[in-house]
Amino acid sequence: MIRLDGVTKQYESGAVAVDHLTLDVPEGEICVLVGPSGCGKTTTLRMVNRLIEPTSGRIFIDGDDVTHVDPVQLRRRIGYVIQHVGLFPHQTVGDNIATVPKLLGWDRGRVSARVAELLDLVGLDAQYRDRYPHQLSGGQRQRVGVARALGADPPVLLMDEPFGAIDPITRDRLQQEFLRLQGEVNKTVVFVTHDVEEAVKLGDRIAILAQGGHLAQYDTPAQVLGHPASDFVADFVGSDRGLKRLEVTAVSAEGLAVPPVLAATASVGEARARIDGTRPAIAVVIDDAGRLSGFIGTSGSNGYPTTDPVGDHLEVAPDPAVAGDTTLKDALSSLLLADAGWVPVTDDTGRYLGVLTPDAVHQATRQSL
Ligand SMILES: Nc1ncnc2c1ncn2[C@@H]1O[C@H](COP(=O)(O)OP(=O)(O)OP(=O)(O)O)[C@@H](O)[C@H]1O
Ligand SMILES: [Mg+2]
Repeated sequence: MIRLDGVTKQYESGAVAVDHLTLDVPEGEICVLVGPSGCGKTTTLRMVNRLIEPTSGRIFIDGDDVTHVDPVQLRRRIGYVIQHVGLFPHQTVGDNIATVPKLLGWDRGRVSARVAELLDLVGLDAQYRDRYPHQLSGGQRQRVGVARALGADPPVLLMDEPFGAIDPITRDRLQQEFLRLQGEVNKTVVFVTHDVEEAVKLGDRIAILAQGGHLAQYDTPAQVLGHPASDFVADFVGSDRGLKRLEVTAVSAEGLAVPPVLAATASVGEARARIDGTRPAIAVVIDDAGRLSGFIGTSGSNGYPTTDPVGDHLEVAPDPAVAGDTTLKDALSSLLLADAGWVPVTDDTGRYLGVLTPDAVHQATRQSL
């Protein structure tokens, strides 16, 4: 959807802010540009909508070479949220949001309906429509900034540190809201931040830039954290990258422990024999729908008469993790809280797949993806 092809920006001062940058952003994805201050993030973003003219190279949007098209036309296809929001202070929230639709000459009814729709989309009450930016909190201004950028429903959205100046708690909420919003509007987004946590949380892909706009690595968060391409990237993402990676890696059906499965009618004696030497030391019972009914462990089975059916003595398993959905971080957290030392894993329909053990978490974090 967006393609930078060998794009370079050299300012009049001679400073090369961006040097032969090539980057492809697939449709509907969030690409996060991250890197230290002054590495050329803002410059890169502003070349996409031609607020800054590249010195050389070409830029494509949806297959069109836009390097030389009329920048004003171009910007109508691209929403832009600038560093520090930058609302027009003497215009109401409603007028700010209406900026692009008005430029496009929409009639008043259509503009008004669109403003109402966008306020709702970004989670602001209709009463804010007639307020001025200085009458809003930082987080609210931020939402207005996003609503304004989405004004004419552009396919591409550029966001420059939109959550930069906001306290951590509000920021976390805005990030969640942004992901929810993106789920609805499905834009192609280029998002600038210098915060690795934010990049990992929001990005489908992360582009790590070094000074001079050099692309140090461009990959999924899990890859960047798991396999940093250079010492620079490893340093930049931090020594806790192993932990950060848990947040972006889902529990997988592979590598799970598969304890013996017994019929509910099997005897405690049989359970004991089957469990002997297995890790974790449990056997499970699964119902006709493939769901976990419960488990029996050595501690339990040892006390019961060997002839009793295990179905009479089942223990309730810890809450399950869902393969492909639950992150390793959340799974590890439940694992640490569960007395059992394992958590069951199901598919997204609730069918039991196996159990996650600390070993499996360890393996999963080391696996090349
Ligand atoms: N108008 C300009 N004239 C000359 N140099 C500039 C100009 N604008 C930016 N630069 C330089 O280009 C480099 C990249 O700047 P840019 O604003 O793209 O960095 P950034 O990665 O967005 O940084 P930050 O994280 O601080 O926002 C910097 O060294 C900056 O000093
Ligand atoms: Mg910047």
